[in-house]
Amino acid sequence: MADPSQQANRDRPAPRIGILNGGGDCPGLNAVIRGAVKAGTRLGYEIVGFHKGFEGLLPPADYRILTYQNTAGILIQGGTILGTTNRGRFSIKVGTGGHRELPLELVEGVRQTFQELGLVGLIVVGGDGTLTIAHELLEHGLPIVGVPKTIDNDLGATAYTFGFDSAVNCAVDALDRLHTTAASHDRVMVLEVMGRHAGWIALHAGIAGGADIILIPEIGWTYEAICAKVQERIAMGKRFTLAVVAEGALLPGGQLVMAESEQSERQTRLGGIGQIVAQELQLRTGQETRCVVLGHLQRGGPPTTFDRGLATQFGAHAVGLIVDQRFGQMVCFEPPEIASVSLTQAIEQLRTVPPDCSAVRAARAMGISFGDRLTYANPFMGLAPVDARRS
Ligand code: F6P
Repeated sequence: MADPSQQANRDRPAPRIGILNGGGDCPGLNAVIRGAVKAGTRLGYEIVGFHKGFEGLLPPADYRILTYQNTAGILIQGGTILGTTNRGRFSIKVGTGGHRELPLELVEGVRQTFQELGLVGLIVVGGDGTLTIAHELLEHGLPIVGVPKTIDNDLGATAYTFGFDSAVNCAVDALDRLHTTAASHDRVMVLEVMGRHAGWIALHAGIAGGADIILIPEIGWTYEAICAKVQERIAMGKRFTLAVVAEGALLPGGQLVMAESEQSERQTRLGGIGQIVAQELQLRTGQETRCVVLGHLQRGGPPTTFDRGLATQFGAHAVGLIVDQRFGQMVCFEPPEIASVSLTQAIEQLRTVPPDCSAVRAARAMGISFGDRLTYANPFMGLAPVDARRS
């Protein structure tokens, strides 16, 4: 005879977990979604995917039920099947760092959707801006967990965010291509990369792509120093130079270069410094100089293997946190493990490049110029061994 309790379980609707991504897109978003759908479905949950970030949560909710079938094959796809936005009613980041409070009617709208759809928790996949919104919703009592996403890699609570490795790969590919054309024409090539107020993409792409000059927001620089690097190369018989400039690097006078005039109601868009640096380099050195702005190519296309793996694990772990009712946590990568930290801590810890980190030291040791000095002592001087730092 059939077990009546099993029959009752079959008739009861599966508990639901929501998932959304917010802010800019990023390679690996679909891998997170797939990871969450696979893990959640196997544990008996129904996964609800909200469209266009938090906007999809407002009544009438804009969503679809995600299944094995309709998420098949998305692991390797760039972008996000749910769509996303870094504008709209929820965007609370303003200027170059601040944020305003989330209007209460939006919070109440989200609460209504939670009740109407019977959500037991929501996975929010995003960078600093999106996770700040998630945190506000959490403070209003909504059961949320976070997943860190950004090509900028500027979230301090995780060793890496997915998307960063893909962006760096894209920038390195661009540098490889610029290398051959620069060498053929004896030109200086300036590559402007994204990263907002952190120089991670520029630093890692510059090292891996063989750049001669790297300009990042964390290290002040002068035209004299970068021109000296171009001249030094000419003196060595190298008549071409590769420079990587982070969009958030400051001009020698301390100004940020913005892609559009400042609008206090929105987060400032950066961009344009590459062209300024290129023009000035040509003027001062007489070397023909060109600028390439890599832009959104860094965010498009399929994720690298590393990002796929990280994003998939993040998705599965986020489901685990919801099932365990560990709301207010964000999954993170603490090599070699995937772990979690409090969302409050995560949004407070933005990570920029420490000017004395080992990557900067190694770059300096190889003669890469950060535009701040003309001569170098041993850049590894004073670097304590790992066991000494741990004790
Ligand atoms: O935060 C990710 C990022 O790609 C930054 O590196 C860049 O400054 C910004 O987003 C660009 O945003 P948008 O999509 O509005 O052009």
